Amino acid sequence: MAITPVGQASWTAEGEDLVARLERGDVLFFPNLPFAVEPDEAPLFSPDILSSAKNASFDPASGRTGGTTLEGADRERLSRLLSRFSHRAASLVDLVLPAYRGRLQRARASFRPAEVAGRTTSWRKDDTRLHVDSFPASPVQGRRILRVFSNVNPEGRARSWRVGEEFEPLARRFATCLSLPWPGQAALLRAIGVTKSPRSAYDALMLQLHDRMKEDEGYQQTAPQVAFDFPSGTTWAVFTDEVSHAATAGQYQLEQTFLLPVDAMLASDRSPLRILERLKGRALI
Ligand code: SIN
Ligand code: FE
Repeated sequence: MAITPVGQASWTAEGEDLVARLERGDVLFFPNLPFAVEPDEAPLFSPDILSSAKNASFDPASGRTGGTTLEGADRERLSRLLSRFSHRAASLVDLVLPAYRGRLQRARASFRPAEVAGRTTSWRKDDTRLHVDSFPASPVQGRRILRVFSNVNPEGRARSWRVGEEFEPLARRFATCLSLPWPGQAALLRAIGVTKSPRSAYDALMLQLHDRMKEDEGYQQTAPQVAFDFPSGTTWAVFTDEVSHAATAGQYQLEQTFLLPVDAMLASDRSPLRILERLKGRALI
């Protein structure tokens, strides 16, 4: 697990091929890659724009913006900011992850204007605790979750993260607490509207792993981990389904999620899907 600095200083110019480093579980850190906020976007920089606890979101497929109380011209401004970031992030991954060209699906983008430190929430939603990402309502069916983040804090404050152990030892540590769903569970969750598509066995195990990590105070304290501050004006990209992470402080961040089929990887045996399949001794999709 490493945070590797990359010199890349443009969202749109050809860069180094970073696939191998990403697949090794590195956080690709772009210290020279700020995302430019326009002067007229300043009014968006307040937690008061949120109608939900954590973030405002943008769906590139429909162009719809959600999670905000803003209306009219300010809402359009927010949409423009998120749409611009979404395009930038898509361009960046296209340039530095050539093996994934045409295979990455651009999912939602988000703007996170709330201070992370001291936010009161349930342990399950508390991202100041180490976890791997898993979506309760939107199963990924084994696909990888790749996220691009940009710290756009206007006061120059860092976003503080902790990064934990590698996925294989993590999965081994919790393997005995992860139980396979019973037959019919996926259909039931779908029927009562808990999920938008059937939750695969893989998704069920990943959700349990997310929860078992977060609720275990001892693990949070003693797990191998390093703290890292991403300065304002920097960008990073990481497989958040694999890399154990926690955001402990910071305010104002942009994020774009991509989904990647496991067979698009150069080393798919390193994917959480294949690692969990080996541990459980059966197919999970
Ligand atoms: C997370 O994905 O857990 C939060 C990352 C962040 O908001 O910095
Ligand atoms: Fe996360």
